[in-house]
Amino acid sequence: NDDQFKKVISHAKEYGYVFQSSEIYDGLSAVYDYAQNGVELKKNICDYWWKAMVQMHDNIVGIDSAIFMHPTTWKASGHVDAFNDPLIDNKDSKKRYRADVLVEDYCAKIEAKIDKEVKKAEKRFGEAFDKEQFVATNPRVLKYQEQINGILSRLGKSLEKEDLADVKALIEELEIADPVSGSKNWTDVKQFNLMFGTKLGASVDSAMDLYLRPETAQGIFVNFLNVQKTGRMKIPFGIAQIGKAFRNEIVARQFIFRQREFEQMEMQFFVKPGTQKSWYKTWKETRLKWHLSLGLGDENYRFHDHEKLAHYADAATDIEFKFPFGFKELEGIHSRTDFDLSQHEKHSGKKMQYFDHEENKSYVPYVIETSIGLDRMFLAVFSNALVEEELENNTTRTVLKLPAVLAPTKAAVLPLVKKDGLPEVAKQIVDDLKWDFNVSYDEKDAVGRRYRRQDANGTPFCITVDHDTLEDNTVTIRHRDTMEQKRVKIDALREIIKKEVDV
Ligand code: GAP
Repeated sequence: NDDQFKKVISHAKEYGYVFQSSEIYDGLSAVYDYAQNGVELKKNICDYWWKAMVQMHDNIVGIDSAIFMHPTTWKASGHVDAFNDPLIDNKDSKKRYRADVLVEDYCAKIEAKIDKEVKKAEKRFGEAFDKEQFVATNPRVLKYQEQINGILSRLGKSLEKEDLADVKALIEELEIADPVSGSKNWTDVKQFNLMFGTKLGASVDSAMDLYLRPETAQGIFVNFLNVQKTGRMKIPFGIAQIGKAFRNEIVARQFIFRQREFEQMEMQFFVKPGTQKSWYKTWKETRLKWHLSLGLGDENYRFHDHEKLAHYADAATDIEFKFPFGFKELEGIHSRTDFDLSQHEKHSGKKMQYFDHEENKSYVPYVIETSIGLDRMFLAVFSNALVEEELENNTTRTVLKLPAVLAPTKAAVLPLVKKDGLPEVAKQIVDDLKWDFNVSYDEKDAVGRRYRRQDANGTPFCITVDHDTLEDNTVTIRHRDTMEQKRVKIDALREIIKKEVDV
C-alpha cells in the first residue's frame, strides 16, 4: 500500500541506502544513487546471483561487455525498429503517459473490485470458503473478469497491428482520465523509441551515432563464439553478465522499480534446437528456487506466463513479486529461439554457428534467457524487510529484516561505555573480524538506542563489550530478529556470524 511504500522510500534515504540523483539540483527524474549501505546490499545481491548462476554451474561462465556497442547491433536485435512505447499526452495537464499503462491501470481497478468481492465472500463463508470455486462461478466476478479480458485483448491486438488510433479510441471509450488532473482531453497515440542516443568521436563529419545499451543480452550474443571457442564450451552452456542498461522510460513515481539507468543480471543459455522447451521449464524452476531460498515468503511470488509473445520468443514468463504497490515483474525468463544469433549472422555476415561433435553438424543454437533487474531485486528485498514491530512494553521498533547473507553490515561492535578500556577491546574485535565480514564500530548514545539504530540499519548482530569482558573474554551477542542475547567467548564470534551469513 501507499503508506508502506512511502516508508520504504524515506527509510532508504534516512539509513543511507538510496538517494535521489543530483539531489542538490532537485534531482533527475527516475535516476537514483546508491548510498553507503545501498552499495553493499547491491553488491551482496550481485554476489548471491553470481555464485548461484556462475560459480555453481560448471557450464556457465561470466563476461563483462562494453556498454557501447556497434550501432548495427541494435538494428539486428530489432531495438531500432521495435523498442517503442505507445505514448499519449494530456492536452490540459501537458503530462505524458504510456497509453498501454493507462489501460492496464484501468483494468487493475476492476481487479481490485474482484478482490473486494472475494474478501466479502471470505468473511461470509469463513472456513468453508473455496476461493477458486467462487472466482470461477460468481456472476459478478465473472462479469468483471470478462470486462478485463475484453479490454486487454483489444489493447493487445491494436498494439500488435500498430493500430494506434484504436488504442486512443479505447482510452476514450473507457473514459480514462488523467490520473493527476482528471482531464479526458487526449492527443493521438504515438510510438516513441526508448533507446538513448549518443555520439562516438569528436569531429562532426566522422562522429558515429551510438545507443546506450537497453539490455545487456546483446553483449553476450555478439561474444557467443568468442566465449564458446576460447572457453571450449560444449552445448548446453551459458554466459552470464551483470551490467548497466539504459531506457528512456516514461515513469510514474515508482522509486527504483522503473529507472532510466538501471542494472540487469542476465544469463543466456545456449541449447540444441528442439530442446528449448525442456530447458525453459528447467530454468523457470531453477530461478524460482533461487528467489525462494532468500526466505522473503513463498506467497510473495507468482509466475505470469505470457500469452502475447514478443516476435523473437516461443515462450515467456515473468516471476512477479509482491511489491508494496502490488504484484509486478521482477524477472523475465524467455525462450528466445535462434532469433538473436541468426539476426547477428545476417547483419554481420559472420557465421554464428556451433559445431556439434556428437551430431556431427553445425547449427545456430536456441537460447533460454533469464533476466532480472538488480534494482528491482534490491527493492523487493528492501521493501519486504522493512517492518514495524509492536513490543511487549507497548513501544514499537523499526527493523530491517534483511536476509543475513545480503545485509550490508553483518555485526556492530558496541562498547557499553566509552571508558575503562572497553572501546579498545571493541575496536580489537572489529579488527579481528573485518577481513571476513563487514563489521562496524558504534560508541555513540546509550546501548539501547544503538541496538535500535542497528535494527533499522538491518545489521543481524550486535556485539556488546562490557566490564565482564575484561575479566573473562566473553561478550553479549544480540540477534536482530529475536532480540535474544547470549553470552559467548570472543573466540566463538567468527563461527557464530559465519553460520548465519552462509547459506
Ligand atoms: N534481455 C531481456 C530484457 O531486457 P526485459 O523484460 O525488458 O527483458 C528484464 O528486462 C528485467 O530488467 C525486468 O524483469 C526488470 O527486472 C528489469 N528492468 C527492465 N526495465 C527496467 C527499468 N526501467 N528499471 C529497472 N529495472 C528494469
